[in-house]
Amino acid sequence: MADKKELRIGLIGCGFMGRTHSNGYNRVSNFFPNLAYRPVLKAVCSRTESKVKAFASQWGYESWETDWKILIARDDIDAIDICTPNDMHAQIAIAAAKAGKMILCEKPLSRTLEEGEEMVRVIEEAKVKNTVWYNYRRIPAVTLAKQLIDSGKLGRIFHYRANFLQDWTISPELPQGGEGLWRLDADAAGSGVTGDLLAHCIDTALWLNGGIKDVSALTETFIKERVHQTSGKVQKVDIDDACIFHCHFNNGSLGLFESTRYARGHKALYTFEINGENASIRWDLHDLNRLEYYDYGDDSIVRGWRSIHVTDGDQPYMDKWWVPGLSIGYEHSFVHQVADFLESLETGEPCSPTFLDALETQKVCEAVIESAKSRSWKDIN
Ligand SMILES: NC(=O)c1ccc[n+]([C@@H]2O[C@H](COP(=O)([O-])OP(=O)(O)OC[C@H]3O[C@@H](n4cnc5c(N)ncnc54)[C@H](O)[C@@H]3O)[C@@H](O)[C@H]2O)c1
Repeated sequence: MADKKELRIGLIGCGFMGRTHSNGYNRVSNFFPNLAYRPVLKAVCSRTESKVKAFASQWGYESWETDWKILIARDDIDAIDICTPNDMHAQIAIAAAKAGKMILCEKPLSRTLEEGEEMVRVIEEAKVKNTVWYNYRRIPAVTLAKQLIDSGKLGRIFHYRANFLQDWTISPELPQGGEGLWRLDADAAGSGVTGDLLAHCIDTALWLNGGIKDVSALTETFIKERVHQTSGKVQKVDIDDACIFHCHFNNGSLGLFESTRYARGHKALYTFEINGENASIRWDLHDLNRLEYYDYGDDSIVRGWRSIHVTDGDQPYMDKWWVPGLSIGYEHSFVHQVADFLESLETGEPCSPTFLDALETQKVCEAVIESAKSRSWKDIN
């Protein structure tokens, strides 16, 4: 380890994503021993001292801060990792870029397209290394889907279908805003399921199936008012609780996307299916090591959907883990993103999705919201 170059991390926000990223940094050098760089957990930042101290001790950070501006000003930090709610992404990323720090930013890039464009402008000008944590790209079965599509096995693509379904906001008693519930507050989140869940589906779709040409959407807010945790007052709910949109892709295929937090019985059902001229594939987050594949080229008497258990050493990332047949999980996608980021420091290549790539997802999200509001089709420029 001593011969490795250090990437000194300053992580901001110690909630759900703070934990997944810290786990990624801690695991990566054990499982990707050939990388030239290793992450060093230099400092973590959150507003509450007792909380951030406990987090630093639990995950192995050398130090902690309660003010992100102080963290960014430190000269012993190379990269800022943004794991805060969406309303903090732009200000932290812009300040970090101006301080010459590399940036790893959680998704969605921003609350609005305008905010995202400003972030991209500053980051590109500062020429700092950057990536956005659209981690589903790095689940081996999803990466395998990309390889199959790029190799031409599906042929011409006709349909792309994706869902992201949850059920945790059905109770009208659930407040909005503040710690843990910022996703229900449009000021903090930007939008509801569109920026939170569909952003993942859109990122994967753009990566697998190319650009989207235009969209037509509808959204619904089922619970119109909720108590705000911070003000204690009943306030209007401005997020989209559910969103459905259809679209044309630039390659001529049709897309159909749905997301909701009102699908009773579903906690995080992210699925996609792609139908091509020669073959189809489908994937389900609840069974993330499997890729379903149907090949019309198979001998007709055995033709049918096959379920590929993506655990073999010649499948993406899997030579780094256990032995063929043994599964990995959700958290490994973050280890993979850390590994790819470290590798990109060696190669000088961008670590996709970069801020610029993630801006494409913002364009689609913004068009979806605008389309629903205006009840009309919106072009993606
Ligand atoms: N890639 C994924 O699959 C995925 C999954 C969940 C969340 N996310 C994204 O990650 C980000 C964080 O989400 P989360 O679920 O971890 O949220 P969370 O509520 O669990 O954690 C947010 C953390 O940020 C801290 N924070 C808030 N304001 C701060 C400030 N001013 N200074 C320092 N710390 C501050 C909070 O105290 C908390 O520790 C969001 O942008 C979200 O969209 C991505």
